[in-house]
Amino acid sequence: MHELKGLILSGGRGTRLRPITHTSAKQLVPVANKPVLFYGIEAMAQAGIDQVGIIIAPETGDEIRAAAGDGSRFGVKLSYIVQDQPLGLAHAVLTAEPFLGDAPFVMYLGDNLLQGGIEDLVNAFRTNQPDALILLTPVPDPEQYGVAELRDGSVVRLVEKPSEPQTDLALVGVYMFTSCVHAAAKAITPSLRGELEITDAIQQLVDDGLRVEPHVVKGWWKDTGRLEDMLAANRLVLDTIGARMDGELIDSQVEGRVVIEPGAQLWRCTVRGPAIIGAGASLRDCYIGPYTAIGEACTIENAEVEHSILLAGSSVRDLAGRMEASLLGRNVKIGRDLRQPRAFRFLVGDNSEIGIL
Ligand code: G1P
Repeated sequence: MHELKGLILSGGRGTRLRPITHTSAKQLVPVANKPVLFYGIEAMAQAGIDQVGIIIAPETGDEIRAAAGDGSRFGVKLSYIVQDQPLGLAHAVLTAEPFLGDAPFVMYLGDNLLQGGIEDLVNAFRTNQPDALILLTPVPDPEQYGVAELRDGSVVRLVEKPSEPQTDLALVGVYMFTSCVHAAAKAITPSLRGELEITDAIQQLVDDGLRVEPHVVKGWWKDTGRLEDMLAANRLVLDTIGARMDGELIDSQVEGRVVIEPGAQLWRCTVRGPAIIGAGASLRDCYIGPYTAIGEACTIENAEVEHSILLAGSSVRDLAGRMEASLLGRNVKIGRDLRQPRAFRFLVGDNSEIGIL
């Protein structure tokens, strides 16, 4: 077999995570303080893939390039490939054809997280040499995904977001292909949502009598497209961290597995893990509950925060109730306003959601 290449799709618009994605790529939203995208790059590196192409959109491409760089810190060589329009996952494959050439490749959706990485699956692909290898997992809401029907362990049908799913087996956003997928992607037509669906391209492989090997994944899998998935991914990853204390505790206590990054200072706080406090964060008189990721240089004073993600530079002050299940973007400020007249004062972007007590 040729050397395997990697293809990470990081061009999606992230409409379901607005307003965060009005100003930032969804693949850079952090899970346990690390951009989702980096988990995919690390999975490639761990599986021994060193040539990785990243599909980017014109709007968010520069930000992704700036964040991931040339890949040297992950031990891979990253190439960036611009997809001018969001015309689907199979269109992204065709856009990457000059980079991929005849090589077999692993395609990884940049907002997906897969427990345990991809090493075993890549080994199965190398050993069994099917034309394609797909990953499946049972989900409660299959109509939101590509859905597979199997017979005697073989794939018979794949349908993208069916209104009446025949099974609960969703296509996980990690796929392995030989170069025959290029012909399949050229043979299909756009779906109702106007995209060339990778699901249809794989169906084309099945119709052409090629061998598509299904694997049901054993660990958890998350597509972080929506707020609740993002929080769930944050929980799952925080559940795997070990404690580390590189910041400063002043009259404060930590319970359970907590990471405190360098330069973070905590005065009179209680942190109950699993949780992570980013570099340079400043916390006073607060309680940080389980499953919380506080980004770099955040400030929290006189407040309780639990099961939430705060991006860099945000601040939360003087809350009367506990904040939970929340995602704050960068440099968001939440606090009590003592000016007269007594009132709520908001400066909030499009598609924001605020719940008050
Ligand atoms: C895409 C695929 C779908 C797959 C899902 C996994 O959906 O089209 O088949 O199940 O990723 O994350 P999308 O994110 O484009 O809605």
